[in-house]
Amino acid sequence: MSNQNTPASQDQFANKAQAWSARFSEPVSDLVKRYTASVNFDKRMAHFDIQGSLAHATMLAAVGVISAEDKADIERGMQQILQEIDAGQFEWLLDLEDVHLNIEKRLVELIGDAGKRLHTGRSRNDQVATDIRLWLRNEIDIALELLAQMQVKLAQLALEQADTILPGFTHLQVAQPVTFGHHLLAYAEMFKRDAERLADCRKRVNRLPLGAAALAGTSFPIDREMVAKLLNFDEVCRNSLDAVSDRDFAIEYCAAAALIMTHISRFSEELVMWMSPRVGFIDLADRFCTGSSIMPQKKNPDVPELARGKTGRVNGNLIALLTLMKGQPLAYNKDNQEDKEGLFDSADTIRDTLTIFVDMIAGIKVKASAMRDAALQGFATATDLADYLVKKGLPFRDAHETVAAAVRHCEDAGCDLADLSLEQLQAFDASIEADIFQVLTLEGSVAARKHIGGTAPERVRIEAQRIIDQNS
Ligand code: ARG
Repeated sequence: MSNQNTPASQDQFANKAQAWSARFSEPVSDLVKRYTASVNFDKRMAHFDIQGSLAHATMLAAVGVISAEDKADIERGMQQILQEIDAGQFEWLLDLEDVHLNIEKRLVELIGDAGKRLHTGRSRNDQVATDIRLWLRNEIDIALELLAQMQVKLAQLALEQADTILPGFTHLQVAQPVTFGHHLLAYAEMFKRDAERLADCRKRVNRLPLGAAALAGTSFPIDREMVAKLLNFDEVCRNSLDAVSDRDFAIEYCAAAALIMTHISRFSEELVMWMSPRVGFIDLADRFCTGSSIMPQKKNPDVPELARGKTGRVNGNLIALLTLMKGQPLAYNKDNQEDKEGLFDSADTIRDTLTIFVDMIAGIKVKASAMRDAALQGFATATDLADYLVKKGLPFRDAHETVAAAVRHCEDAGCDLADLSLEQLQAFDASIEADIFQVLTLEGSVAARKHIGGTAPERVRIEAQRIIDQNS
């Protein structure tokens, strides 16, 4: 960019030429500079930018586009730049727009012409696409590790709570007794699928755009396979236009992140409910809660509430990125600079949230007697009575009706099914015998469901151990 004013010429052709150069005849305003710059947020990709540049330089030297000396100078310069960045001494300039130009400018300052040759056969368009992929691949690997830890913590607590019984709900009404271990393992399943989704997304993130240059490739004899190998990419992007323009890999990540947060949010909702004094199923460690400035008795579950709230932002980032992409013609457009802040925000939120939850789960204090008391209300074993009648020969629909009548009776009498005498039960169906009381207990109910996917303590122990083994 040049800020000099060229005097207007009388010559028609000169005027034409000037019409073009006039775009550069005045300085960009401070506001426009700030508006168009990305360095304030893309500088966090600096390490990956340098990693990509070093691989590019190695390849350029290998194919003879730059000399071995140039390559050595570039490596030396980048080493110093890395040190300056890590020491917080690197001067990031808004005038230099983004992370790429800031680093390149400093490299030229340090090593001269070799620094100017680095950008041969490359554009910021394929450079930025490479940086994002390297950065995101690293974030995915961190998230995968955290999701494994989440599953282990849930499974460890499930092992401890394999025998603890609480009501299982449908429509937020007591439905059937379940074990708390089983309930926790439901979330372990969700986080397992989240990890599968991220691992699958990683395959498409892990492809090399570099070599696409601005959009059309380059006339230099580059070796893209070599660069891919140096950067541990599994594959090379096969179309230069696509390589610089699509951000579907980031959208996939944002979708996977939104699902992780959605699962976290559902879990949070339960933690908040369970911790409410009205329910009193659990207590969270003090370090995840805060007090009230006015009500001294309060201990609020701030962390799960905030996680539930942050889910909105992460969901929003997905929609923002989809919307960013939908109107763009091929190939690169500056719109794409807007891909980063939402993506960074989603990854930061996932990382912080999972890290906190791994710790918080381990510190859940379970109030087993409150859970049990709640399971004893609401005729949680009514289905077991119906199943019992079916085993005695009744068709299920008839058994369902018979039990409905018994429940109605108990509701009027203000008692539980298990409180009825054998004679009273036999009044509803003559096939009922003394072994019914085994069936009507909470323990009998859960123990009977020992098949794969069932809530029985025996099954919970098997599944929890399997999850621990798989993720340790
Ligand atoms: N900062 C830009 C981005 O994030 C880098 C690519 C700029 N390319 C260009 N032709 N202006 O997308």
